[in-house]
Amino acid sequence: MLNQRRADGTLRHLITLEGLNRVELDALLDHAQHYVCALGARPPMNRALAGVTLGNLFTEPSTRTRVSFELAARRLGAEVINLEVQLSSRAKGETMLDTIHTLESLHFDGFIIRDSQPGVVAHVAANVAPHVSVFSAGEAHLSHPTQGLLDALTVRQHKGSRFGSLSIAIVGDIKHSRVARSAYEVFTGLGVGELRLVAPPALMPASGEFPAGLRFSTPEQGLAGVDVVMMLRIQKERMAQADIPDGEEYFARYGLTLQRLRLAKPDAIVMHPQPMNRGVEIDSAVADGAQSVIRDQVRNGVAVRMAVLESLLRPRLGRA
Ligand code: NCD
Repeated sequence: MLNQRRADGTLRHLITLEGLNRVELDALLDHAQHYVCALGARPPMNRALAGVTLGNLFTEPSTRTRVSFELAARRLGAEVINLEVQLSSRAKGETMLDTIHTLESLHFDGFIIRDSQPGVVAHVAANVAPHVSVFSAGEAHLSHPTQGLLDALTVRQHKGSRFGSLSIAIVGDIKHSRVARSAYEVFTGLGVGELRLVAPPALMPASGEFPAGLRFSTPEQGLAGVDVVMMLRIQKERMAQADIPDGEEYFARYGLTLQRLRLAKPDAIVMHPQPMNRGVEIDSAVADGAQSVIRDQVRNGVAVRMAVLESLLRPRLGRA
């Protein structure tokens, strides 16, 4: 595995949350909380990253993650350029690394990368100039570290920081989900009391994965008494056509309805990373209901990405 750290131990890249200790996770969440503000208020802005140039390279579709990384960079005074990787040089046969080296010559300091192929983000990180940082914005089914952090921040805001007393259920296509893998890293890193995996057998990850997770094959068992219900989309793009479950049947057995939500604690919160498939994994009455914190997750995404960009890039600015 790639070493994400500098020689002095500080984080240089963020490819995965694996290996971050509780102190580091708490520090990132505290830092992010400082950047959270109420909707309608003027969002916090500063010049902490003035003079820094970042590139957004996304080879998979994204709305929330790309826009929130871009806003986070701008609100810290950095310049950020969105590169249409699939339309320009990559399509002409230039490799991702050639593109990166070109941009390094143009004084880019960091790259925010989303890619469907496992290993590409780490490969770039292993080959950039020593002053450059790489941030994963989602890697295949493996890792989505800033999503994991924003999910943890959302739980903390609603349930407090005593994760040891919480029971969290992740429900749906866990097998193909990078959101679930990063959630697992962050929640176990923060000492969660119980982490439940609720999925039909075909969407359950291999037995060696998620070692601390408690596995349930029905929501009726898996949702009983939980504090947090985290719903996932079926990642059709990572499945063979024949394996894609029928939407109506899936909703009947696994969809989160108000009735099923009553199995959880009365004050349980409902999360979803989006995009949502209403009527497949979640009913609109739940998605838009009183227990939903889905919009908080989106708002927290900018704050978390500000904290990550600032924490990882600041040590290098200090030495410049
Ligand atoms: C997720 C992703 O792309 O991994 N979306 C996101 O980043 N908010 C989840 C998904 O696509 O289902």
